[in-house]
Parts: sequence; C-alpha cells; structure tokens
Amino acid sequence: MKVAVIGTGYVGLVTAATFSFLGHEISCLDVNAERIERLNKGEIPIYEPGLAELFELSAKNGTKPVFTTKAQQAIEGAEFIFIAVGTPPKDNGEADLSYLESAAKTIGTYLSDGAIVINKSTVPVGSGNWVRMLVEKGVAERAAAQNQSLAGFAQSLTKAHPVTFTVASNPEFLREGSAIFDTLYPDRIVIGTDDSKTRDRLEDLYKSLKEQKFKEPSFCKRPEGFGEVPMISTDITSAEMIKYSANAFLAMKISFANQIANICDLVGADVTEVMHGIGSDSRIGNKFLSAGIGWGGSCFGKDVQAIIKIAQEYDYEPELLKATTDVNYKQRELVVKRLQSELKILKGKRIGLLGLAFKPNTDDMRDAPSIDIARALIKMGAEVRAIDPIATENAKRIAPEIHYSSSLEELVSGLDALVLVTEWDAYKELDMKSVLSKMNGNIFIDGRNQYDPSALKALGFNYIGMGRH
Ligand code: UDX
Ligand code: UDX
Repeated sequence: MKVAVIGTGYVGLVTAATFSFLGHEISCLDVNAERIERLNKGEIPIYEPGLAELFELSAKNGTKPVFTTKAQQAIEGAEFIFIAVGTPPKDNGEADLSYLESAAKTIGTYLSDGAIVINKSTVPVGSGNWVRMLVEKGVAERAAAQNQSLAGFAQSLTKAHPVTFTVASNPEFLREGSAIFDTLYPDRIVIGTDDSKTRDRLEDLYKSLKEQKFKEPSFCKRPEGFGEVPMISTDITSAEMIKYSANAFLAMKISFANQIANICDLVGADVTEVMHGIGSDSRIGNKFLSAGIGWGGSCFGKDVQAIIKIAQEYDYEPELLKATTDVNYKQRELVVKRLQSELKILKGKRIGLLGLAFKPNTDDMRDAPSIDIARALIKMGAEVRAIDPIATENAKRIAPEIHYSSSLEELVSGLDALVLVTEWDAYKELDMKSVLSKMNGNIFIDGRNQYDPSALKALGFNYIGMGRH
C-alpha cells in the first residue's frame, strides 16, 4: 500500500522503516532539506539501534522509502498519510502545534481522494478534529484555485469528484533506544477513528504486524512466545487520551518509586528490594519502578505538562499529575544537596558525571537530568566534568560550560566526587578499585542504583545510592 510519512524525526523514521520493511511503498516528507539530503545519501540523522539495518533490509527487498522535500511527490496518490511532526512544548507547557498545522494544510493541498490522514504525533486531545478542519481548508483552497484556472474551470463543468478523506489517531509507544523492537513487537496497536471503514483499512495496513507474519530481522528478534498483537479500537479523542495517559502513568510510576526511595533513605530500607517486592504483584507490575535521579527525555515531561494544561483548560486541577512532575525534578536537586552535605563547600570541587544522555542507548539530550545537575553544581562554583559514549556532541551544544572528558581516566583523575547519571552498560561495570585510586575523594553517588553498596564500601567508597545505602 502507498503510505506517506510527514516528518522524519524519531517517530517518522521508525514508522517509515517499519512499513517499508513490511513491504509497503513509502514516501517521507520533511521541510528540512539538509536532513532529506542526508537520508538520500543513506545517512541516518538520529542514533537508533536497528534503524539503519531496517532501512537496508527494505532496500534489499526493493521497498526503499523515497525521501523528499516536495509535498506533492510525497502526498499525491498516498492511501495513508501519517503525520509525525514534532509537537515540542512551549514555555507555558502547552504543545506547540505550528508544525502540525502546516503539515495538515500541506496535506489538504495535495491529498488524493479517499486518503486517510493519521496522527502519530502526540497531540492535545481534540486535535483530530482540528486536523480534519485544516485539511478541509487546504482541500477547499485547492478547489478554489483550480476553479480560477482555465483547466479547473473546465473540470468544474464536468463536475469533478470532490476530494474526500478521513482522519484517525494512531499513537506510538516507542522508547528511544528500543524503538524498532517496540514497533515490531508492540504490546498493542491503538487505532482511534470515528469511521468503521477507516478502521478496517488501517487494520489491513497493520495486518502483517498484528499477525506477526514477517520474517524477524536478525538484529531484532521476536521475543519468545510473542503472539498476535491486540488491536485496540476507539474513537479519536480516546486514542489521543490513551497516549497521554500511558506516558503520565509511567512517569507517575517512576515518581512513586522515587518518593518511596526518599522515604527508604529516612527509615533505612533499600528501595530496590522494596520495588522488587511490590513489582511482583501482578496488579502493580515490575517495570518502570527503578528509583534514581528521575525521568527525562522528550516525552514524559512534555506530555505530563500538556495533560495538566488540558485539564486546567477545563477548570480541573490534576493534583496527582502535578506532584508527578514536582517529585521528578526534585530528584535532580537531591543529587546536588547530597554532594553539598558531603563536600560542604562546592566551590573549587571537581565533580565527574558518568553519562549525559537522558537514558542509555541514545544521544538524546532533551530534558536530560545531567544538564540540570551540572548547571546547579557549576553555579555553586564546582568544576564539572562529564563523559558519555555518544551524547557528548549534543551536550556540548546545550552546555558548553561543562568540561567534556575524552576518556574515563581523564574524567576520574583528581575528582572529589563521581556521579553515575546514565546507566550505560560500560558504566555499570567499571573497575571501581582503579577509579578510586585515581580520584582525590571517595564519594560515589549512584544516581541509578546500579552498584552493590557493600562492595563499593568495602573498596573504600563513600557510597550514596538513591534510597539504598
Ligand atoms: C485490598 C488489596 O487488594 C489486598 O491486596 C490487600 O491485602 C487488602 O486491600 P480489598 O480491599 O479486599 O483488598 O479489595 P480490592 O479488590 O483490592 O479493592 C479495594 C477497593 O478498591 C475496592 O473499593 C474496589 O472497589 C476499589 N478498586 C479496585 C477500584 O476502585 N479500582 C480498581 O481498579 C480496583
Ligand atoms: C517514553 C515511553 O516509554 C514511550 O512509550 C513513549 O512513546 C515515549 O516516552 P522514552 O522517553 O524514549 O519513552 O524512554 P523511557 O525508556 O520510557 O525512559 C524515560 C525516562 O525514564 C528515562 O530518563 C529513564 O532513565 C527514566 N526511567 C525509566 C527511570 O528513571 N526509571 C525507570 O524505572 C524507567
């Protein structure tokens, strides 16, 4: 089937790679000419394991996507048009919908009769109707322009068939770093539409994924026992709410674990054991209960803020969601407070950060706890050094005031304190004896609770975990 994808960010590229791998004919549209040029050269502009490989498989199967900046080329003739443009937060927490607006208008200008316009971006509840209106406007403007031209006039005399389309919402739940896995083997596929034919056609598009009728790629194996993917069919507004609620719930789970961690600190319990204990209850589930310096990234903060705004527009104060955010950002301050209470005066102290990215396996620095922590320490006069396997270049652009070390040895030598910020595999199993021997002090803040407290204490570290000691 012919599919257009508008926006070649994380969501757009993963969507394009997946559908082309499944054998569909894909065209990707982006206004960023440099990005499109790179994609046409075979370069993948983001770091996402398996993405390049999936594109290669599609190329081998003869379904390599077309990347273009020409809207007409991408949209005309497409049966399905996925909108995957960014909806970044504005200063007041509301989602910036300008990219969505221009995408919808462009679609209206070029879409073919019977096309389905599908929102994959996380959009405020109610956007489905707004997109429909904008596309309609584009269609109407096109008709008016055609009527003004001679050819259009002739066409109107023959009573040209009006362009019809429907709108759907199909939220994604992919995590950066495992986006391909999450897309090929999802827990569910959510389709929100008010039209049964549209639902049937979308189910058809997803058929091979739903039934798992594709040869699993060698680099992204199907989990053992993985069966048919449930399809959840709702109206558009509920589908939009599902996306926000899923992220808000996950963010809340982590904030809950962090709040319990802080109480564990006070009473002398170990939060990793507590979370293991509660997570074994199938009603709670054991995922997303890792306490530490909290969540970051492009989604949780933005989505929780956006759903708070939506509620407030209806005069409702969502206390639980507000607390979810507050608890999260206080975890970052906690690291600074702990360092302050151990080192007393931070001025002139050398502090090293292990990891910069908001989580492992990505170079994404959006809302990364590392930046807030580093800035607070620098403000108090400390020298902050940091290292990351792949996010350093992105971090340099945001925070040039950090000293970026080129090796672990350079990072740790002469440090007063070391903080584990991102639990990259490489940082989970360091030779801590050798690390300590190069440091000036012995403070280790395990911001992700990865090390065995007693083992590090035995080596001579002043080990400080997040809710364990
Ligand atoms: C609860 C715990 O489930 C149990 O593990 C613990 O040992 C004692 O407390 P109980 O109060 O008997 O058990 O019933 P439960 O079925 O868990 O429901 C508790 C309350 O929550 C009920 O009023 C129920 O109506 C309500 N509930 C439950 C909801 O409102 N929503 C739900 O999704 C589940
Ligand atoms: C998230 C959602 O998981 C995904 O479904 C949605 O589509 C986009 O947002 P992502 O932001 O890529 O994905 O990463 P995720 O793996 O969810 O981690 C988010 C943050 O939570 C990271 O900073 C991570 O370090 C933190 N985290 C996660 C915890 O602090 N504890 C946990 O137990 C899990």
